[in-house]
Formats: sequence, structure tokens, C-alpha cells
Amino acid sequence: MTPEQMGPNSGLNLGYILEITEELNALKDIDAILDRILFESRKLTRAVAGSIFLVENSKLKFSYVHNDELYTQGHNNKHIYSSLEIPVNRNSIVGYVADTGDPVIIDDAYNIPPELPFHHNSSFDEKTGFHTQSMLTVPLKTFQGNVVGVIQIINCRDEEGNVCPFQPEMEPYISFFGRHATMAIERGLMTREMILRMMLMAELRDPKETGAHVQRVGAYSAEIYHRWALNRGIDIETIKRHKDIIRLASMLHDVGKIGISDAILKKPARLNDEEYNIMKYHTIYGARLFISSNNELDRLSREIALNHHEKWDGTGYPGHFNDIPGKDPPLGTGKKGEEIPITARITALADVFDALGSVRSYKDQWPDSKIFNLIREESGKHFDPEVVNAFFEIIDVIIAIKEKFQ
Ligand code: C2E
Ligand code: SIN
Ligand code: SIN
Ligand code: FE
Ligand code: FE
Repeated sequence: MTPEQMGPNSGLNLGYILEITEELNALKDIDAILDRILFESRKLTRAVAGSIFLVENSKLKFSYVHNDELYTQGHNNKHIYSSLEIPVNRNSIVGYVADTGDPVIIDDAYNIPPELPFHHNSSFDEKTGFHTQSMLTVPLKTFQGNVVGVIQIINCRDEEGNVCPFQPEMEPYISFFGRHATMAIERGLMTREMILRMMLMAELRDPKETGAHVQRVGAYSAEIYHRWALNRGIDIETIKRHKDIIRLASMLHDVGKIGISDAILKKPARLNDEEYNIMKYHTIYGARLFISSNNELDRLSREIALNHHEKWDGTGYPGHFNDIPGKDPPLGTGKKGEEIPITARITALADVFDALGSVRSYKDQWPDSKIFNLIREESGKHFDPEVVNAFFEIIDVIIAIKEKFQ
């Protein structure tokens, strides 16, 4: 449902806010949480657009955006991977709100009273042709009063759908919702952080390199899944639910490298056959980490860790094998086609695309054109052709992700 489909007075009541707060708590990944927070705050005010900025290293990092006039809700959106940063100071509206911790309501962005310290930055409007008019900007504050970010909702609409000022009585509702949203955000950030730490332990490479690789593979996989699922006619609720978990599970694809010795993992040259054979067990070691639990995140993490080096044509590893707990079982014949779970078919492409675009201790970085040629060539061999199609359909999003997490 989009905000304009809602009835009048779209749920400005506390019971409703508590209800959506509870639903927010079911989400795991920070992107899914921000998406839902924007959706609900826009719904409460019937707003056309909105964005969320999160505080990181004393800057406001642009972290999520919706805009019904510029892009279709429910489709892949490259704008959420923008790297825009705004300083925390009183020259901008979002900076002012983060600095003071007070909400600000603006009726006309192009007519801000001159006694106010900030001005509207019109560069976004100029670039896109969007016209920002009314704005409600509220801090995302913890119960202790720390500002973790800012939510900005743009162009409120009246019941006829005309842009109107935000009513001052809306502000306390959004602020109240913001308090609860902040808790969900902190939890989402902590989950990401824990996953990055786990991967850091597993790879013990340059921590920045590792973090970026893992975030890219997670984001590529989530977005490829989204497109693949739209192509298959899967409904948007289901897509959003799976996308949330696939991003996290896919970030953990190589966690089994924790069981591989440094001598092999960090060898600054090509592996010989024996070493490569040992390396193949990172799939099985990874899967074993998630064996005891059956929640959805553990199940998908296990599925992806185990199967991300299987190939569509059956020439991958570890294949079908009989697991012997605590031992390295002999590897079997490769799984083939749709025998390989879709999550793993997607992560396989995301992982290879990223590995080829990165410098490794044993190889140089490839230019994008060469990588794209390899992916096309390997469609139907290494990769599922349907997944390759989805990848190229969202190539603008893929490139935005690559630029964001360098
Ligand atoms: P990774 O570096 O994350 O690479 C993931 C996958 O990307 C590889 O899976 C492979 O399918 C693809 N890939 C990476 N580099 C190249 C390349 O130069 N050419 C081509 N055509 N494909 C490439 P694979 O081969 O099963 O390797 C799994 C993991 O084993 C790699 O993860 C890496 O950690 C390690 N590894 C593989 N080969 C070597 C090597 O020669 N030396 C070292 N030190 N590590 C290696
Ligand atoms: C801000 O809120 O300061 C950034 C966006 C804008 O100026 O409208
Ligand atoms: C699915 O897992 O939802 C689709 C089945 C498949 O293509 O593997
Ligand atoms: Fe791997
Ligand atoms: Fe990898």
C-alpha cells in the first residue's frame, strides 16, 4: 500500500504506532528497518518522500530514501546506496536537527525565514526535477537522549492529494514513533556489526577490505534476489521479508574460512591442488557453524555457506557428500541446476563478481568490462541464467553498491 491509498487521518493514534513498533522488532537487517520506518512515518503523514540520515564519525550519512514521484516503491532503488554526507552543524536542516536534538517543521523550503540559521540545499531538486516544499525533520534519539540520526519527511499531502504544510500536532507522533524506531535501528546496527566481527575473525585480512567485501556481497545478493523474485511474480511483502535475511546470510558466506590455516588463506600465490582441496572445506566448516539452530537466518546462512561454490552445470563443490561430524568427509559430485538453493545461486554470482573486481593476495583487479564478459560467458555453466539476467537488469544498482562500499 502506498500512502495515497490510505484513508483520511491515516492512523494518528498511539495504538497503531505501538502495533507497527512491534512489527519493526521482527526485522533484522538495518536496511529493512530503515525502509519500514520511512514507510510508516510517511504513511502517518501521507508524505510523498522522505530520507533517513544516520550519525557516523560526527557526520550525517545518508542512509535510506523513498520518493514516490521519482521511483516506484517495490522496485530496486539505486538511490539508497548514495554516499552523501552532511556535517552536523546548523547550516543545514538535518544538521541543525541532529545538533540541537529538536524537531523542525518547514512549510516552504524555498521561503525559509531569514532569521533561521539554515537554508534548504536545492541541489537534489535541481538534479532530479523534484520540488521540495513542506518538510518535517525529527531527530532519532535514544531514551538517554543521544541523537543517532535524523528522519526527514517531505511534502505532506491533504486528503485531495495536494501538498500542504505538516500540522504541528503530527510532530509528537512522529517523535514518539522515532524513539521506538531508534531502538530498532540500534539493534539493526549491532547485528551488522556482529556479522562484520565474525567475518573479521574468519579472514583476519585488512579489516576495512573485509568489511567492504562482505557488505558488497550482501548488498549485491539482496538486490539480485529482489529483481529475480519480481521477475518470478513473487509478492512484495514476501520479497522484503526474504531480502532482509538474505543480505545478512550472504554476508556470512565465507565464515568457514575460520577453519582454514593462514598459510593457505593468505598465500600470496596460486594454490596448488592439495591446498585448493583443503580450501574447498570452508563451505562445510561454514555450514557446520549454523547446524544447531533452525531459525530462518541460521537456515539461510547454512544453505549459502554450504552451496555458494556449487555451479549450475554441476562442476562445483562440495557436492553431495555424507557428513561425518568432526571429520572432513570426502567431497561428492557437484549439485546441479535448481538442486542448488536459489540463495546460493545468487551469492555465487555476487561473490565472483566481487572477487574479480578486488585485488587479492594472488591476483590483480579486473576491469568491469572483462568481468561482465566472463559472467555472460559463464551463464548456464557456472551461473544460473535467470540470476545472470536479474544481475544485468539492475546493473545501475550494482554499480552504485560497488561505489558506496569501496
Ligand atoms: P575468493 O577470493 O572470494 O574467490 C571467490 C570465487 O571467485 C572463486 O572461487 C572463483 O570462482 C572466483 N575467482 C576469484 N579469482 C578468480 C580469477 O582470478 N579468475 C577466475 N576465473 N575466477 C576467480 P574458488 O576458486 O572456489 O576459490 C575459493 C576461495 O579460495 C577464494 O575466495 C580464495 O579465498 C581462495 N583461493 C582460490 N584460488 C586461490 C589462489 O590461487 N591463491 C590463494 N591464495 N587463494 C585462492
Ligand atoms: C537538509 O535537510 O538540510 C538537507 C536537505 C535539504 O536541505 O532540504
Ligand atoms: C525458490 O526457491 O523460491 C524457487 C525454486 C528454485 O528456483 O530453486
Ligand atoms: Fe567461498
Ligand atoms: Fe568470498
